[in-house]
Amino acid sequence: MTDKKIIIAANFKMNKTHIEVRAYLNSFFKKLKELNININDKTDEKCIETDAEIIFAPPFTALNEAYNIIEENIEFGHLVKLASQNIYFESAGAYTGEISIEMIKAFDCSYAIIGHSERRCILNESDDLIAKKIFAVFNYNSKKIDLNFCEKHNGKLIPILCVGENLDIRKSGKAFDFVAGQLDKALNYSKNNLNSNMQNINDKLKDKSIIEIDELIVAYEPVWAIGAGSSIEPEDGEKMHKFIYKHLNNNYSSIKNFSVIYGGSVTEKNINILMEKEHIDGVLVGGASLDPQSFFNIYKFAVSK
Ligand code: PGA
Repeated sequence: MTDKKIIIAANFKMNKTHIEVRAYLNSFFKKLKELNININDKTDEKCIETDAEIIFAPPFTALNEAYNIIEENIEFGHLVKLASQNIYFESAGAYTGEISIEMIKAFDCSYAIIGHSERRCILNESDDLIAKKIFAVFNYNSKKIDLNFCEKHNGKLIPILCVGENLDIRKSGKAFDFVAGQLDKALNYSKNNLNSNMQNINDKLKDKSIIEIDELIVAYEPVWAIGAGSSIEPEDGEKMHKFIYKHLNNNYSSIKNFSVIYGGSVTEKNINILMEKEHIDGVLVGGASLDPQSFFNIYKFAVSK
């Protein structure tokens, strides 16, 4: 077992009704109980000790159901979290079909996937839009420390920012530059606009000198590996993850906490070899997350190492 904080996330995409999500999660929690994760008895040597997080991103229509089932299994509440598959950057108003941060926080979502390649490619989401969404999340978190605001809302929201090159870019040898560009386009807007905002908050709460609002998960998902049946070579994945680590450390020192997870044809067959890599902190799983047994095996293999 490594020291890194492991994140195993399931992205259901546009699959499963709320009734199907209920059946799925009931089955998943049953398996989780059987796995004998050490929750109470730290002396029981047969138990698996892990703080590896499981994140479910069901469709919006199933968030309520998923929230209820997690509440019913609250002994796993520190391990099992919810994510929304998207958010809009405005907090309310005439935006037909969109969903706000407030709405997903009402179901206690801890994470929001932002900039998934399917939204970039199929729904034409631009870099500007993605940057505004990231800013909206960080801004929400910065307001959370305002005490009045805090009473009404529980917990902050952590963006899962998706980046990744297509096959042409990979073949042309420009994948690293491309991913760095995607990170910059998504994060620079926050970097430039949050500072003044933070100053205002600092003025209000004079006793708090260090405020950590910026927490981020980057999901490196090469577009050519998504739903393709074969993932990236683990060595190539490690190179890109290491590069993303370096890029964030060098350019975004205000982001205190970040993880870099991999997505693209992750299965129970390749999870171990991916997780062995130093800079691969976890995975974002699409197709193989749709069956509770297969996603459970991915989690089990990731934590049993
Ligand atoms: P996949 O999808 O596991 O089906 O390749 C991953 C994703 O798009 O997040």
